[in-house]
Amino acid sequence: MSVPFDEPVSRDQTCSVKFDARKAVFGRDDVIPAWVADMDFPAPEAVTRALSERAAHPIYGYTLFPESLYQSMIDWFAQRHHWQIEREWILMAPGVVPSLHAAAMAYANPGEGVIIQPPVYPPFFSSVRLSGRTVIENPLIRDEDGGSGYYRMDLDHLDACAARPEARVLLLCSPHNPVGRVWTRDELQSVLDIARRHDLVVVSDEIHCDLGYPGSPSHTVLASLAREDDPLVTAVAPSKTFNMPGLGLSALVIPDPERRKAMKTVFESMHLPQCNPFSIAGFEAGYREGEAWLDELKEYLKSNRDFVADWVSQRLPGIRTSAPEATYLMWLDCRELELDDTELKRFFVRDAGVGLNPGVSFGAEGRGFMRLNIGCPRSTLVAVLERLESALSARS
Ligand SMILES: Cc1ncc(COP(=O)(O)O)c(C=O)c1O
Repeated sequence: MSVPFDEPVSRDQTCSVKFDARKAVFGRDDVIPAWVADMDFPAPEAVTRALSERAAHPIYGYTLFPESLYQSMIDWFAQRHHWQIEREWILMAPGVVPSLHAAAMAYANPGEGVIIQPPVYPPFFSSVRLSGRTVIENPLIRDEDGGSGYYRMDLDHLDACAARPEARVLLLCSPHNPVGRVWTRDELQSVLDIARRHDLVVVSDEIHCDLGYPGSPSHTVLASLAREDDPLVTAVAPSKTFNMPGLGLSALVIPDPERRKAMKTVFESMHLPQCNPFSIAGFEAGYREGEAWLDELKEYLKSNRDFVADWVSQRLPGIRTSAPEATYLMWLDCRELELDDTELKRFFVRDAGVGLNPGVSFGAEGRGFMRLNIGCPRSTLVAVLERLESALSARS
């Protein structure tokens, strides 16, 4: 492997949320952080170089989005995902989460309904609630038989939710954070059929689309199954892919002109998107030159994932997990520990000294679960797992 993913890199003094917010979030700053979804790996060298070159020019004035930026993402999605994007379908956006908020405002009136499928990334709830729209929940179904822990969408219930008169939008997380599913073409086709039947706008958050595991089913871009006039918005970004979410730049792809205009109107009402010369440089360098780095990253993450799955099954009694199909996030089922959510958090933070995301923050369906970020050198994972192992044995 030519990229040294195994080598720890200190993130001290970088204002990193994952490290520097530990005291505020966990009440102590010595937990090993395995929470916020960024990775502890340096971005591809091409990204660092592009940023340094831009920084070397000392004028950081107002900036526009160059045509080459759009072309870099068009080429990436054509090559990696067999999805042909037209230039005029793209709206740049500061981040995917701001886009979720904007979508709730653009496609639903205050009080109207936005469907989400918990357990799901917390901003799926907050973007709807903070914009004064109403959450309609279509919980995922978890296969408890045989302990596979495999999740699927409840398509019948989704259809019923979509039929409700107040339902306007579905926020789809694809691949799904935190359960790591890559939705199949059949599942996505069913979502599209439901959306067409009920004129529901699907906002497909595909920020994790490049992080499917080798050997797992490959990601299908929902829009690649759709027609131009379908009610569909796709959110993508190179931020998770190349580990540069702090740069804050993403894109929306909206083929239908009316729906594109509605989103643009919301953006304009907030003077968005801000255009930042560094995020432009990083975005384009990632999509143009990051491919080899990404392929190595995925191999490294796969070995981390399998390593964690083995350790959990062999050495962490009371905790179960299954291998995600995508994302560097693993979903730990801790229900056999028989701890309520406060006790579970206390066990991880105080007894074990590790900082993970409590499952309950992903919705009530996440009660008794914890989310582990495996986007880090193996040595960090070993330290996390050893701490958990000794805390569990101290309990028994
Ligand atoms: C599903 C999903 N959407 C969006 C984001 C964040 O997007 P952004 O940083 O572009 O706002 C995350 C980060 O974890 C995520 O998991």
